[in-house]
Amino acid sequence: MDKSKPKYYLTTPIYYANSRPHVGSAYTTIVCDVIARYKRMCGFDVAYLTGTDEHGVNIERAAEKLGISPADLVDRNQQIFRDLWKLLGISYTDFVRTTEPRHAVAVQNLVRRTQRVSPDAIFKRKYEGRYCIYDNLYVSDTPEPADCQICGRPAELISEENYFFRLSAYQEKLLQLYKDQPDFVQPDFRMNEVKSFVESGLKDLSISRKAIKWGIPWPGDPEHVFYVWYDALTSYMSGIGFVDGEPNSKKDSDRFKKFWPADVHMIGKEIIRFHAVYWPAFLMAVFPDKKLSGYMPGRIQAHGWLLFEQEKMSKSKGNVAYAEPIVKALGNDALRYYLLREVVFGQDGNFSKDALITRYNADLANGLGNLASRTLTMIEKYCDGRIPEMPAKFNESTGVRWYSSEAEESRNKFAKDISSAYDNFEFSKVTERIWEIVAQYGDAFLAQYKPWAHAEDPQMRWFVDGILHIAAQTVWAVTVFAHPIIPEATQGIWEQLGMSGKITDQRISEVKFGGLKPGTKIGKIEGVFPRADKKEILERIETMENEIRNPGSAQPAASGAEATSSATPAAIAAGAAPAPAVTAKIGIEDFAKVELRVGVVKSAERIQGADKLLKLLVDIGEEVRQVLAGIALSYAPEDLVGRKVVIVTNLAPRKMRGLESNGMLLAASVGPDGKPVLCTFAEDVPAGAKVK
Ligand code: MSP
Repeated sequence: MDKSKPKYYLTTPIYYANSRPHVGSAYTTIVCDVIARYKRMCGFDVAYLTGTDEHGVNIERAAEKLGISPADLVDRNQQIFRDLWKLLGISYTDFVRTTEPRHAVAVQNLVRRTQRVSPDAIFKRKYEGRYCIYDNLYVSDTPEPADCQICGRPAELISEENYFFRLSAYQEKLLQLYKDQPDFVQPDFRMNEVKSFVESGLKDLSISRKAIKWGIPWPGDPEHVFYVWYDALTSYMSGIGFVDGEPNSKKDSDRFKKFWPADVHMIGKEIIRFHAVYWPAFLMAVFPDKKLSGYMPGRIQAHGWLLFEQEKMSKSKGNVAYAEPIVKALGNDALRYYLLREVVFGQDGNFSKDALITRYNADLANGLGNLASRTLTMIEKYCDGRIPEMPAKFNESTGVRWYSSEAEESRNKFAKDISSAYDNFEFSKVTERIWEIVAQYGDAFLAQYKPWAHAEDPQMRWFVDGILHIAAQTVWAVTVFAHPIIPEATQGIWEQLGMSGKITDQRISEVKFGGLKPGTKIGKIEGVFPRADKKEILERIETMENEIRNPGSAQPAASGAEATSSATPAAIAAGAAPAPAVTAKIGIEDFAKVELRVGVVKSAERIQGADKLLKLLVDIGEEVRQVLAGIALSYAPEDLVGRKVVIVTNLAPRKMRGLESNGMLLAASVGPDGKPVLCTFAEDVPAGAKVK
């Protein structure tokens, strides 16, 4: 903790630990990391909290399904979150788990304090209504069946005695808060939605549950556990050392005293109500005497969703992409850059691996990466590996764009524009402006003045030096501007430029072109963004994704369809792992695990970019399945329609080329090349008949 610097405290939501993170959860964490890094570069001492939400019936049931304890499940999953944050270079400072004893103590103390200082705020009564176990939302206060407004799944009936929070008593106070802090919820249109919700009247809220065991016990009444959201929201305080919140408490950590309240709670748009209505009301009840500024978060910042094929990416919809394969195939900067560049912050944005690789090649490999390595290579070759001086001869009359007063003005504006875009969380604008510099003063500049063409001419030495000086200054400035977004590559370029100080000590708002000292000896040149072969990278990503979906399967994805030495095309048609050389005998009970049915091919088409793969729709009696099969070299799609096939119907779904395959066709493997020949029937058999 640095006492000399002003504080900045920001949080991500704490993520449900019932499953592993996907690109959607990574998005919020990456955005917060960019803000944290930017704020550090503005001179703030930053506390950045993230963590895992580990209680509730959903977790209880997820564990039961796996035959393990909830504690084991959350232990395992929270580690996957931490590992991913490490892989993504997330610079969080604090991690909170709601199953930690320090958190339970904080939650219990918070409610004890509320009962003492606001005695009317909490009361007991019977609750009957519908509750969504996935979003922990009270969906409706009547027993009639109802679907969750967030995830759309049917809500469960609850009928039990609970502790209630008298939310209705906070309506006026909340409206006053929104008046006093007009930016309390951002973007503005979200603030308006929240105000209308509160103006329409607030119902008291149940904050304990009786039928659940997996939660924090209510102090003095352990038959009850805390409602998951009361528990989870408190993590924003316990995570940085809140214990009892008593005036001048010796138990609360110095860290809590310095950093609380949060400057920004970053959240997805679906959890605004919990943060903008319930959370401030809970806080008002705990600190009724304090001034708002002493305890109220500065801002609830809501962002949009990452969509996959127009729907919110979420595990329950089965349309998730995972971050780990992308990072392993392309590096963490690639994912960070893509998400910040493509999604207009605050709005929903589409996620596509294809677009990600295109962006990577265009902006990172051919853009910044290429500019940095070309510039450094020429400095190595023509300037003895030292940043050249700007020759006195090089001035306005040289006619180089750098020297026009217009160019100077536009250059000076960059630092201001970029830092104000960072301040306003306009990340796509930040990246657009930075990459404008790359194009204008980097690529186009070198292409126009061609230093290499004059390198052998002693008369033109000064000109070559001047051009390379400008190119190096450009790379230097861009490296500083882009550091919060692509920390790894910019650190690499920083070192290659020969810089010894820390990149993070630079102030983005004050960056002046010219900060790179002439004479600096450059470091070892290494490409930071190698060009990516789209097909190959997609295949690698999909193979790794399949391994995450079906651990231990080691199934080749579409790449398998391109025939490896041990996997025959027939086996590949089946999407199976290469067969071992010697097959052990299996019992009938093992064979019985495989469900085989007759299918009728309803349609078949080729898949763009995959020479060997066909997409089939196969009628298996009760349903029509999409199956991807590596048989395109042996069968024309039009010859397959109406054909009877044998299909394995109980194979876990897997993705190839972004498409889900729900089953596998059986085929003989013929000849040395293992040509696939589909199994079929001589007699008439109906679709859906079992094959035994
Ligand atoms: N545990 C609660 C939050 C408690 S905070 C006191 C929760 N958890 S969650 O696992 O469902 O994660 C919610 C957050 O993950 C969202 O608010 C959002 O920040 C992020 N996202 C999850 N899916 C997402 C997308 N498809 N797109 C963008 N963000 C996504 O709610």
